[in-house]
Amino acid sequence: MTTPAQPLDTGAAAEPAATYRLAVVPGDGIGPEVIAGGRRVLEAAGRLFGFRFEWHKVLIGGVAMDAYGVPMRDEDLAACAAADAVYFGAIGDPKYDDPKAKVRPEQALLAMRKGLGLYANLRPVTVQPVLRGSSPVRESLLEGVDMLIVRELTGGLYFGKPSEQRDTPAGREVVDTLIYTEGEIRRVVKLAFELARGRRKKLTSVDKANVLSSSRLWRTIVEEVKPDYPDVTVEHRLVDACAMTLIQRPALFDVIVTENLFGDILSDEASVLAGSLGMLPSASIGEKRTPFGVHGLYEPIHGSAPDIAGKDVANPLATILSGAMMLRWSLGRPAVAEAIEAAVGAALADGYRTPDLVAATGEQPGQKKVGTQAMADAVVAALEAGASQKVGAGGPGERAGAR
Ligand code: IPM
Ligand code: MG
Repeated sequence: MTTPAQPLDTGAAAEPAATYRLAVVPGDGIGPEVIAGGRRVLEAAGRLFGFRFEWHKVLIGGVAMDAYGVPMRDEDLAACAAADAVYFGAIGDPKYDDPKAKVRPEQALLAMRKGLGLYANLRPVTVQPVLRGSSPVRESLLEGVDMLIVRELTGGLYFGKPSEQRDTPAGREVVDTLIYTEGEIRRVVKLAFELARGRRKKLTSVDKANVLSSSRLWRTIVEEVKPDYPDVTVEHRLVDACAMTLIQRPALFDVIVTENLFGDILSDEASVLAGSLGMLPSASIGEKRTPFGVHGLYEPIHGSAPDIAGKDVANPLATILSGAMMLRWSLGRPAVAEAIEAAVGAALADGYRTPDLVAATGEQPGQKKVGTQAMADAVVAALEAGASQKVGAGGPGERAGAR
């Protein structure tokens, strides 16, 4: 049904490890709940496939402002850098939302992306067949939707300086800076070409070249890189028109590459196709390699959702699927990643639904409305059932050392 994002050839060790060291960052709002669910699934996968995790819990975000007075301490960034991968919940707390505040929890997320050199954010968008009815988009349009949004993550308006409000004789004025170096554009564009090569070989580059200089350089660089990938078909789309086509004909897209803010916006839009923002995982990666794959940070694309925090109603599936991406990209365990993805599909096919997934359709016969932890349990049960079937058929490949 879906095309998993193809990891690059990382030159990783042939034998995956028995123990992985993970930095776990629950963060704010629903972060701790969805991470708890995700951890249970990862632990279960380790039991079933014969490996384990060492978890190093790190406080970053509003919780760190509460505990230490800063959104992120240097030593916590260092702990994330030292781990094999970072498993991340969400950041953001309305308590710190004062627009005049100099320090905000989100700054930690940006500093972490920058500090770990995670220049590419990979956001796969697929639609679970049983959730087609949960999307407000007509079901017939969702057939064949399988795209990967590659969002540039450490440049553009998010990091350009100056970014400030100032007083002038004419009143307040404000500036944000959209700046990209050629190198920043080229590395993410090349990665997107590589990823397209491992999928359906179609790349859509999204920009606003009819208005922005930055977009014109972006487009030029895509054209410069294109000859190195003659097997990949490339198209350019303007972001406004692309936003429309994403809903009108979503199955057209394979890999989309775009700058930071456009990618932020388009990926939330694309999540509507999947039925809920609570379904979409992400991986943020850069140049750094570990013995088992790329170093990376794995997080659901949704935020901290403070309005539903602490109520055990948040959908943990995006976090669970982010765990699968971590196994595939950072930990050298693609078969385990697939097993978790299949277990998510199976739990949904069994009728398990968190409230966000019921909201669109109302409760249907055969559906079981469950909370965060019960949904994670349903995935664990499906994972165990899948593994025991495979044992019957000759044992799970990875435990048997087949990979
Ligand atoms: C995301 C989020 C973040 C972003 C916020 C929380 C800073 O929306 O990961 O998409 O804008 O990058
Ligand atoms: Mg966003």
